[in-house]
Amino acid sequence: MDDLRDKYINLIADAADEVAIEDLRVQAVGKKGEIALKMRELGKMTPEERQIMGPKLNALKDEINSALSAKKTALADAALDERLKTEWLDVTLPGRGRRQGSIHPISQVTEEVTAIFADMGFAVAEGPQIETDWYNFDALNIPGHHPARAEMDTFYTHRAEGDDRPPHVLRTHTSPVQIRSMEKNGAPIRIICPGRVYRADYDQTHTPMFHQIEGLALGKDISMANLKWVLEEFFTAFFGTEVKTRFRSSHFPFVEPGAEVDIQCKWENGSVKVGEGDDWLEVLGSGMVHPHVLKSGGIDPDEYQGFAFGIGIDRLAMLKYGIPDLRAFFDSDLRWLRHYGFASLDQPTLHGGLVR
Ligand code: DAH
Repeated sequence: MDDLRDKYINLIADAADEVAIEDLRVQAVGKKGEIALKMRELGKMTPEERQIMGPKLNALKDEINSALSAKKTALADAALDERLKTEWLDVTLPGRGRRQGSIHPISQVTEEVTAIFADMGFAVAEGPQIETDWYNFDALNIPGHHPARAEMDTFYTHRAEGDDRPPHVLRTHTSPVQIRSMEKNGAPIRIICPGRVYRADYDQTHTPMFHQIEGLALGKDISMANLKWVLEEFFTAFFGTEVKTRFRSSHFPFVEPGAEVDIQCKWENGSVKVGEGDDWLEVLGSGMVHPHVLKSGGIDPDEYQGFAFGIGIDRLAMLKYGIPDLRAFFDSDLRWLRHYGFASLDQPTLHGGLVR
């Protein structure tokens, strides 16, 4: 029995891996292993011999089992040490920076304008960018022969040969959303409609696609005075300072009377400051909604009246954030976006006073 013990204790000590340990376990203490064979011999012994040999064999079995499991643990520890030596991680290395995206000034200004008008009770409405010529022109009191149609540099879609229905257009302004909203909601109504518009024009202050916000307020006794108050309130909130406005009589087919609105500004070494000085800058068109337009929208002009206005969002963004060239807005140049864009946690908000 001492030979058996020495043999296995040595073999276990020399075992190189878990497979070898398992082989040794089967050989020594398995069902048909050497200890089991010895156990079987107990049957042939005298009771006295058995009393001595039985416990000795059991003790030997226990000893070999413990040696096996101790060696198994030691091998696993060694394997882990080996792995830790090769798979180490230097937690002191600086992290890999990820660039943050930024919010485009147009999106930012659209949000700001929407927040200000929402605060005054205006809901947001939207319409399609591809319009019928009825919504874009006729319904707005711009008939086929009207010069305003020619002046708008309209993009027309293509009709199949022989199809002489008037082609659809890329909307040239957000005004058609007035008609769609009147049809849908009737009066009274108070909405703004932000969105993209299209005209065939391209230079430092014009791009073929740009953005407007349309406003419409209809009620029983809404007047030009309400229009003036709403716009002044808007400019003051938007620019974060009191801004004087100047209403100049002007003509748009969809309003009567119509007015262009200028805001007070000052030019200082080539850049413009809003809310100071005694220069004026034109920023929007507006007026009292024309009775024909109300009728197009299914509203009785003897019962309801109100005002409408259209503002260029891009122009507002350039003015507020001092961005000189409109074309760069839509170049998708990441350097421009990083410079003029807004971090998502650093946006001007209505509750923060809308200043950067
Ligand atoms: N639709 C006009 C344009 O694109 C802007 C405009 C002028 C809108 C007067 C209005 C308005 O609602 O009353 O130039």
